Amino acid sequence: MSSRQCSLPRRTDERIQRGVIVDTGYDPTPFRDQLIAELTEAGVLRSPIVARAFAQVDRAQFVPEVDPEQAYSTGVVTVRRDGTGRGVSSMSSPIVHAAMLEVAEPAPGVRVLEVGSGGCNAALLAACVGDSGSVTTTDVDPEIIARVVRLFPFAQFPTVRAELWDAWESVGRADGEFDLIVVTVECPTLPDSLLASLAPGGRIVAPVTIHGVRKCIVLDRLADGLRGRVEFDCGFVAARGHGAGEYDTRAVRETGEHTLVLRETGVPAPSEKELLSSGTILSAEDSGISLAVDRSPSDLWLWMFSEIAPMASWASLGSRRLDGFTGVSPLGTPVLSDRDGFAFLGWPGPVREQVDRIDVPVRGGGATGPDLARRLAEAAASWLEAGEPGRPECLLVPRDEPSPIDGPTTFRSSLGATADLVVKRAEG
Ligand SMILES: C[S@@+](CC[C@H](N)C(=O)[O-])C[C@H]1O[C@@H](n2cnc3c(N)ncnc32)[C@H](O)[C@@H]1O
Repeated sequence: MSSRQCSLPRRTDERIQRGVIVDTGYDPTPFRDQLIAELTEAGVLRSPIVARAFAQVDRAQFVPEVDPEQAYSTGVVTVRRDGTGRGVSSMSSPIVHAAMLEVAEPAPGVRVLEVGSGGCNAALLAACVGDSGSVTTTDVDPEIIARVVRLFPFAQFPTVRAELWDAWESVGRADGEFDLIVVTVECPTLPDSLLASLAPGGRIVAPVTIHGVRKCIVLDRLADGLRGRVEFDCGFVAARGHGAGEYDTRAVRETGEHTLVLRETGVPAPSEKELLSSGTILSAEDSGISLAVDRSPSDLWLWMFSEIAPMASWASLGSRRLDGFTGVSPLGTPVLSDRDGFAFLGWPGPVREQVDRIDVPVRGGGATGPDLARRLAEAAASWLEAGEPGRPECLLVPRDEPSPIDGPTTFRSSLGATADLVVKRAEG
């Protein structure tokens, strides 16, 4: 998005440190108008109810430590870090706020639970559900709740309540207390106690990790279970408290400045020797795989999971990229591996403008790398032939139970120790 030409008074750190929010007399209207125009043009803001909510909420109010320019940018604003400097609380990007609201469809009168607080998204939800609805915004962190209570415009949105609560605590809310649950922290699991608080016909929108790929899912509580769709890519901060540390992850390669992390450790990882042999196996010209530049590769990845099982994902974490692993994203990239080799879809490098599609190489290493690369290329070819389908259906099922949509075009991804998400690929 383009930068804005508004020159507005900056809120100084000194004022914030004293805990005083000074009325700088600024007018949020030009910022809001421009953001709404840009999100609409990008196709992220689609419904009048969500656009109206964006017009009623001043994002800058929730992050007084930054200037309004930054509050209205499309970036995340980190508001709290842990001892190691890792962000543990933030105001999400307006793109994520809009995308989640569009799939949540909060109608007037709806009772909403927001898991993970900050104020801005709660205000947007409150604007959508109106005075006949309600929003309970919750957080595990007392400092975040105190901050929301201090900053939130309760006079403008009187049906909002901020509560200290760990969503992964086994003590849940009252059964059927909410019509809509919007989770704004990465979910390692969807706890039963949380799901029980969803009324029949209600909807939960939650960011989960599907074989290591981070996606927002939407599930409706129907008579035959929790069913819905895998929606867009999204990355949130990791859950803390009772929800922390339930990921099945392990570091496969660590250097001083970099860690390559494997998610879903049920899948074998190659040894250090194979990892060091990483290189291009099928060049971008030879792989036969191409992607539209404006298309998320994760649609292809989810398709591959139903073609090739089991597969895991690697995430590339650290201040420097690890040689040989360009293409492995910090958010997770699927990797096909066994003890003797591995293969993943690489990234060809910077995309030149005016290109509609890019050719994608397959990278990997080890003795079995070429065979694994060929299987990846075949799975990708079947996705291209099927017309590059997106957004699969999904269903939450207890771990040991079959699902009504089990079949050759589905795969199961673990959501914690007791439940699976069954994903059925969309057909072309
Ligand atoms: C990305 S922030 C929320 C963003 C916010 N909804 C907004 O308006 O932009 C995620 C929040 O989830 C909170 N969180 C982490 N673990 C949690 C848990 N177990 N239960 C509830 N909240 C949790 C964090 O403290 C953090 O404030």
